[in-house]
Amino acid sequence: MTQELLYEINDKQKTKINKILKTYEREKGNLISILQKIQETYQYLPSNVLYYLSRKLKISLAEIYSIATFYTQFKFKKLGKNILICCDGTACHVKGGPHLLYFVENELGIRAGKTTDDLLFSIESVACLGCCAISPVCVINGQIYGDLTIKKLKRILKDLKEDKTNQIFK
Ligand code: FES
Repeated sequence: MTQELLYEINDKQKTKINKILKTYEREKGNLISILQKIQETYQYLPSNVLYYLSRKLKISLAEIYSIATFYTQFKFKKLGKNILICCDGTACHVKGGPHLLYFVENELGIRAGKTTDDLLFSIESVACLGCCAISPVCVINGQIYGDLTIKKLKRILKDLKEDKTNQIFK
């Protein structure tokens, strides 16, 4: 298989990327901002999009990967519809953070850093979410949940599994 086929990109993706590049036309050196925008669009950095980007910006793919992999904010795999970020910083750790993470991992059948096969759930474990006063903390679909307990998490997960996300976050 040729490299072009491997990194084939469709017209819809091309249009999206060209639009992003146009926005940052005057900041072509600002690769980080472009990558952030791509991730905002796809929730991760698809390899075919990065290949297209490397050709457009005339930067080698290796260089793009070398920059992108330096920052933990960038993801290279598609994440699930529901993203659970569990804190394992010191404050959360001493207040039972690891038990919450263990519970979520068991409930969903995946380890932190992974996504379920049905692409419904992703779990991430991070060092500190910056709201230690309400530890233990998880951010679930962008919503901060503090003073979490397994009982609360159980309810949240149950609702998410039944796809009642709108009811939870109101
Ligand atoms: S240690 Fe968890 S929010 Fe800071």
